[in-house]
Amino acid sequence: MSPASAVRIAPSLLSADFGRLAEQLAIIEQGGADWLHVDVMDGVFVPNLTFGAKVIETCRRLTRLPLDVHLMVVEPEKYFDSFAAAGASNLTIHFEAAPHLHRQLARIREFGCNAGVAINPGTPVEHVRDVVRDLDLLLVMTVNPGFGGQKFIESTVGKIARARALLDDAGSGAHLEVDGGISRETINRCWQAGANAFVAGAAVYTAPDPAEEVRALRGRCGVQV
Ligand code: DX5
Ligand code: ZN
Repeated sequence: MSPASAVRIAPSLLSADFGRLAEQLAIIEQGGADWLHVDVMDGVFVPNLTFGAKVIETCRRLTRLPLDVHLMVVEPEKYFDSFAAAGASNLTIHFEAAPHLHRQLARIREFGCNAGVAINPGTPVEHVRDVVRDLDLLLVMTVNPGFGGQKFIESTVGKIARARALLDDAGSGAHLEVDGGISRETINRCWQAGANAFVAGAAVYTAPDPAEEVRALRGRCGVQV
């Protein structure tokens, strides 16, 4: 199975209960989660502040899951070295914050991480056409970044399909990830449009049984509904 066709469920740390972090990471592993999504926000690129290298390092100790680190920060290259050393697996930077995108993606790979680029709802997918071959992951934001628990933006479904076509036309095996408002209600539409990796924060961590929720989300993929 090519990486692009394998479903990846990535619960987001942002909605976890930090007072019980070890337990919260163990429960998603029990549910069969594939990645832990770690949202880094700097209060500049987005109006919210979250974690840095110390928290990534802590997660690295607490779980075996690959760490899917989403940098919602300006000047993301300042953090590649310390985040790679802390144990990040994927480093995804925003198109809107990366004027030297080609060079920045190459730097991420030099640090031994998978290189991802994220695009906001207002950014056309065509803007990343010229770096498709430099990507291990393309993240289509399905909300405006900054907060968990927001409503899925329906108009992004067409963009997911255009992103899938862009990757396929280039013969790319990069993951196509979606992030924001992913739930039992929205995940299947994203899967049908061509996404294979799904971030879910509130849906997983506000569920009565987060492990079961991870299984339920996976169950919504691979089927036409
Ligand atoms: C939003 C973050 C998301 C967030 C998703 O800016 O990038 O990863 O955790 O949360 P939900 O799934 O609650 O929309
Ligand atoms: Zn995210």
